[in-house]
Amino acid sequence: MNKKIKIFDLTEQYKSISKKVNKNILNILKSGQYILGKNVAELEDKFSKFIGSKYSISCNSGTDALVLSLRALDIGHGDEVITSPFTYFATAEAIVLVGAKPVFADIDPRTFNIDYRNIEKYINKRTKAIMPVHLFGQSAEITQIKKLCSKHRLKLIEDCAQSFGSTKNKKHTGTFGDFGCFSFFPTKNLGCAGDGGMITTDSLTKMKKLKKLRNHGGLVRNIHEYIGYNSRLDEIQASIILAKMEIITNLDKKRNHIAQLYRSMIDNKLVTIPYETEDESHHVYNQYTIKVKNRVRFTKYLEKNLIPFGIYYPIPIYKQKALKNFKYKCNLKNTEEVTKQCVSIPIYPELKNDAIKYISQVINKYK
Ligand SMILES: Cc1ncc(COP(=O)(O)O)c(C=O)c1O
Repeated sequence: MNKKIKIFDLTEQYKSISKKVNKNILNILKSGQYILGKNVAELEDKFSKFIGSKYSISCNSGTDALVLSLRALDIGHGDEVITSPFTYFATAEAIVLVGAKPVFADIDPRTFNIDYRNIEKYINKRTKAIMPVHLFGQSAEITQIKKLCSKHRLKLIEDCAQSFGSTKNKKHTGTFGDFGCFSFFPTKNLGCAGDGGMITTDSLTKMKKLKKLRNHGGLVRNIHEYIGYNSRLDEIQASIILAKMEIITNLDKKRNHIAQLYRSMIDNKLVTIPYETEDESHHVYNQYTIKVKNRVRFTKYLEKNLIPFGIYYPIPIYKQKALKNFKYKCNLKNTEEVTKQCVSIPIYPELKNDAIKYISQVINKYK
């Protein structure tokens, strides 16, 4: 391997759609309509059709999608939301931002997702919602979680930031709950060239409320029904996402192809490759996360062999300093273990076969 392997490469993807993207951006600049224009409307429409939701409401980021969804349900002070302790910080941060308390249920160490069997013991009269994360691109046990929500009359907000295109029993993540929250952060499977987010819902009332919340609480100039936000998607980002949606099926096939190559090539008893659930689900591999016992030694070995990696995520969320006021006493066994073992290796549609082969061979030689 003489060409440097990257942890991800956004430039190659841009090259494949650059003509279209450049033309669209120029047209937008000339049009003078820069936010919430026809590209945003088209994207919201296409997104719903792709996912299978009645409505899609765009916003500024995946974090905002979560915050706005919580706000649309009037979740706030005194309320609790059960979520995963093994996720990007934004999931729990959104809950805290609306004034509620995140409560953490341990994960299934095979899938990295919240384990539905651990949730019920945390449900009490303050619990208002469950917020599972479909981590690394694989759906959580969302049907089981939905059953719990129905049984206890709780709301369901899916964090789909990493799972665009993934399914559970042939149904897209983001269509099971009251809301599905997506991120267009550049490294997501469907990413833009900045920040952006989307909320999916089947509720007409909630769709209307969300459209107001993202726009300072109103749709008519100088009339404000709620304390809202400035969380509007701009036309340029919407046009880039639209261009990427045209090739997303192909990009997804490539990610899955790489995952299958790793699966067939990585063979080392010190390394556990990702587990795919055995039902009719579709994993979209936003990350390819393996587990190793002695991570410091392993990552030094990767560095020595010029293989980049990411540690998603090294600290259980309940141990983050920003949450110290909650005085969590959690010690969730699977989460504690997985945060010490996880290593994400390169996976992106443009990763070349010789790089995949090289990475697998290096991992196989690890002793
Ligand atoms: C699981 C998860 N939730 C939420 C977010 C927040 O999305 P954004 O960065 O678009 O605000 C991310 C982004 O990294 C994420 O991975």
